[in-house]
Amino acid sequence: MFSNTDIMDFYDPTLYERNVGLAPRVDKVYQEEVGELEPGSHVLELGCGIGDVLLPLAHVGYRTTGVDRSAAMLAHFRNRVEAEAVETRERVRLIEAELPALPDCGEFDMVLMPNDLVSHMLTANDARRLFIEIGRRLRPDGDIVLDVSRFDVSYLGYLAGEGGKLERVHGLYRYDGEQWIRVSEQSTYDPESGILIAHFTYEMLGSSGCVESTRMRVLRLHPRRASEIAMLLELSGFEVVAEQNARFPAGMDNVLFRARRVQADTRMPR
Ligand SMILES: C[S@@+](CC[C@H](N)C(=O)[O-])C[C@H]1O[C@@H](n2cnc3c(N)ncnc32)[C@H](O)[C@@H]1O
Repeated sequence: MFSNTDIMDFYDPTLYERNVGLAPRVDKVYQEEVGELEPGSHVLELGCGIGDVLLPLAHVGYRTTGVDRSAAMLAHFRNRVEAEAVETRERVRLIEAELPALPDCGEFDMVLMPNDLVSHMLTANDARRLFIEIGRRLRPDGDIVLDVSRFDVSYLGYLAGEGGKLERVHGLYRYDGEQWIRVSEQSTYDPESGILIAHFTYEMLGSSGCVESTRMRVLRLHPRRASEIAMLLELSGFEVVAEQNARFPAGMDNVLFRARRVQADTRMPR
């Protein structure tokens, strides 16, 4: 199944769908946020993955557009869409693109950035650029909704300290039928750049319990304080209209932001 030293893009649709390792689900939180919109409204999700947030919205009548850079995640999403009734299929459009550049994809009533998508923007300029791009595609009374993992000073301080890294085993996960995967992580944090680098190791175990193959994946994130996100939104022409520690699944300590566009346009950072 795995080749022996396969180093790959972090997001793998099968591992994500089977909840192997870290794959927190936030679809309920976002469905509640979108629930106030008129049926037929147009919703854009950035970093849509395999469609856990967007597909249920298409089901209940919203027009949806999903953007993601991972061809594999989008292919999986497309397969799920294909299995739907024709009226749901017609409400889903998927675009492969690398953010913060946002393709010309129309006008939206709401833009969603679930699962701390903004932490994938490794510089403040990229985060601002993305917010500005979003502002240009939102209708005048449209909102952006996003969540941010709470900035954990002691955890990041530990990663940046003498030991220099965190090593932990996430556990054993059932994969296909009789197969199991052992997931472990090695993370480091560079306080100067603000970037957290997590190396994940996935070991596929045979029926004897021996490791048959190994896969490595790397994830680079920029954890940010909620106050920094609020500032970046304001600098990008948004007003924060709600900030709450809302209804996330157990184990997630995230802040949910809702922000509204107050300026018609803002200059892009260089
Ligand atoms: C944790 S998954 C979340 C998927 C979905 N939003 C959900 O909540 O189920 C993050 C997704 O963001 C995508 N992503 C990360 N950085 C991106 C970037 N710079 N441009 C486009 N997509 C990105 C990944 O490919 C992945 O599918």
